[in-house]
Amino acid sequence: MYRTHTCGELRITNVNQTVTLAGWVQRTRKMGGMTFVDLRDRYGITQLVFNEEVDAELCEQANRLGREYVIQVTGTVNERFSKNANLPTGDIEIIVSALKVLNTSLTPPFTIEDNTDGGDDIRMKYRYLDLRRTAVRKNLELRHKMTIEVRKYLDEQGFIEVETPVLVGSTPEGARDFVVPSRMNPGQFYALPQSPQTLKQLLMVSGFDRYFQIAKCFRDEDLRADRQPEFTQIDCEMSFVEQDDVINLFEGMAKYLFKTIRGVELTEPFQRMPWSEAMKYYGSDKPDLRFGMKFVELMDIMKGHGFSVFDNAAYIGGICAEGAAHYTRKQIDALTEFVKKPQIGAKGLVYARVEADGHVKSSVDKFYPQEVLQQMKEAFGAKEGDLILILSGDDAMKTRKQLCELRLEMGNQLGLRDKNKFALLWVVDFPMFEWSDEENRLMAMHHPFTHPKDEDIPLLDTDPAAVRADAYDMVCNGVELGGGSIRIHDSQLQAKMFEILGFTPERAQEQFGFLMNAFKYGAPPHGGLAYGLDRWVSIFAGLDSIRDCIAFPKNNSGRDVMLDAPSALEPKQLEELKLTVNIEN
Ligand code: AMO
Repeated sequence: MYRTHTCGELRITNVNQTVTLAGWVQRTRKMGGMTFVDLRDRYGITQLVFNEEVDAELCEQANRLGREYVIQVTGTVNERFSKNANLPTGDIEIIVSALKVLNTSLTPPFTIEDNTDGGDDIRMKYRYLDLRRTAVRKNLELRHKMTIEVRKYLDEQGFIEVETPVLVGSTPEGARDFVVPSRMNPGQFYALPQSPQTLKQLLMVSGFDRYFQIAKCFRDEDLRADRQPEFTQIDCEMSFVEQDDVINLFEGMAKYLFKTIRGVELTEPFQRMPWSEAMKYYGSDKPDLRFGMKFVELMDIMKGHGFSVFDNAAYIGGICAEGAAHYTRKQIDALTEFVKKPQIGAKGLVYARVEADGHVKSSVDKFYPQEVLQQMKEAFGAKEGDLILILSGDDAMKTRKQLCELRLEMGNQLGLRDKNKFALLWVVDFPMFEWSDEENRLMAMHHPFTHPKDEDIPLLDTDPAAVRADAYDMVCNGVELGGGSIRIHDSQLQAKMFEILGFTPERAQEQFGFLMNAFKYGAPPHGGLAYGLDRWVSIFAGLDSIRDCIAFPKNNSGRDVMLDAPSALEPKQLEELKLTVNIEN
C-alpha cells in the first residue's frame, strides 16, 4: 500500500501518529525557512510542512515540487498553529520526514481549484484534470449514490435489472438514430437505441413483470443544457398495471430519492395537471411551479378597442410580476428585445404598471380608457406596485410559448427560481398525436406504443387529433425528469395506430412486425416510465447543465473534444465496411 490514510481523514485525534499519505500537489508556499504543501486526493486536502532548519535537503526537495506532481510522504501529525476552518483537516498538518516523488506532471493548463481559471473548452479537452476538481468530482459521487439508491428502491419493489442490446435496428419515429455499419452484413446498419422501449415491452411479453435498467440511450438531436446525444435513463416497465399504479410507484421513488439524497421530505401527493391546463396557464408541458405568474387571457377585455395589434390577434394574454412596477423604461426595453429574439419570435411587448393609487399606466393608454385597464387589473388580481406584461399573436399556441419564455425570464430576474426549492408535478392527459408541418402528418406525441384513453378510442376514427393518451411526465422546476405511458398490448389496436401515423400495413410489419407479432402470443397489459438520470442528478446538484454530472460529456456540437470524436475512418476500414464517403464541400 502506498498510504496509511487519505488526505481527507486526519483530525486532531490523530496528533503524534506517524502516517503515510499519497496524492497530488495542489499548491506549494515558501515562507522564510518553511515550505508548505497542500496535498490533495479524492477525499480532501492535508497541509504538509517542511522545515529548512530541521532537514535542509528534504525542504529543498519540497521546493522543487511542481503543481500536480504525485508524491508520497511520511510524517507526524501535528496540531496546526493557525487553523484553517475551511478544511475538515484544517486543525492538523503533517511534519514530513520522508518524501518520494511517484510521478512528475506538466504544468496543468488550468488551475485545479474550485474557482478555476480554465474556460469551458479547455476543461472539456482536459476533462480528466477537470474531474480532479472537488466541485466536478462531487457531482459524480452524487450520481453514484443516486444509482445505488435507485437500485435499492427498485429491488425492494421486486424489479429485476435486465440489460438490453446497444446494437439494435433503426426504427422511424422519435429523434434521429445514430447508426453503426455492419462489416458482416455489408450495406446494413445497426442503430443505437434511443431508449429500450420496444425491448422492455417484449420483456413484459416474456413475463418479467417488473423490469428496470440503468440504460444508455442515444439520440441524434440538437443539444441543449438538458440534452446530450448520449444520456442515461432509469428505464422501467411493469405488467398488470394502470396509470395510477405506475404514477404512485414512481412518485414513491421520487420521494425516496429526495429523502435519501437531498434530505428533503416530500409528504404531499404531487399535483397532477392535465396537459391542456399546463399549456393554457404556463405555455409549457413542463411548467416551473416554483413561482406563480399564471397566464391570464385578455381576449374578452382587450379586443375591440381600436388597437389593431390586439384586435387582429388570435390570443392576447399576460402575466403579472408582483412588485415589479419599479422596472425602468430601459429594463422594459430589454424585455421587449428579449421576446423579439428570433428564438422566441414575439412581435412586441405591452406593459402596464399599477401605480401607488391603484391607477393603471400602460404603454397602450391611448387605446384603452382607465376603466378597461382597471378590468384588466382585476383579471390579474394585480395590486399597487405590480407590473403586467402582455403578449399577443395570431397563433395561440405559439404566443403562449413566447409568454412562457417571458415568464421564466421574469422568474430569473426576480430571483424566484431558487435551486433549493423543488416544485414537482405530473403532467397527464397528453394528446395522443401532434401535427408535424415538416412531415405533413400526425406524429405520436409520446411514442407509437402509447395507449389512448379508453374513452377516446372511438375518436381514433373520427377525430384522431382530439384523442388523449394514457401518458404522463414528471416535472420538477421546469425540467422534464421523466415520462411514460400505458402501452397498447393489442396487435390490432397497435396496427391501427401505425395506420393513423401514416404507415402502410407492409411498412408497419417491416418496421415493427417483431412487436406486433409478439403481441399475438399473450401480451399482458403493461406500462412504464423512464426517468432521465442525468437530469435528476443535475437537479439535486443545482447544476445549469447535465454535462457537469457526466464524466466524459460531449460539447454543444456533439463532439468529444478530449477523444477528438467523431473522426474520419481509415480508408481500409471504409473498404471493409463497403462504405464510401461523399462529402460535398
Ligand atoms: P422520453 O423520450 O420522454 O421517453 O425520455 C425519458 C426521459 O429521458 C430523459 N431524456 C434525456 N436526457 C438527456 N438528454 C437527452 N437527449 C434526453 N432525452 C430524454 C428525460 C426524459 O423525461 N421510452 C420512453 C419512456 C417510456 O415511455 O417508458 C422514453 O424514452 O428526462
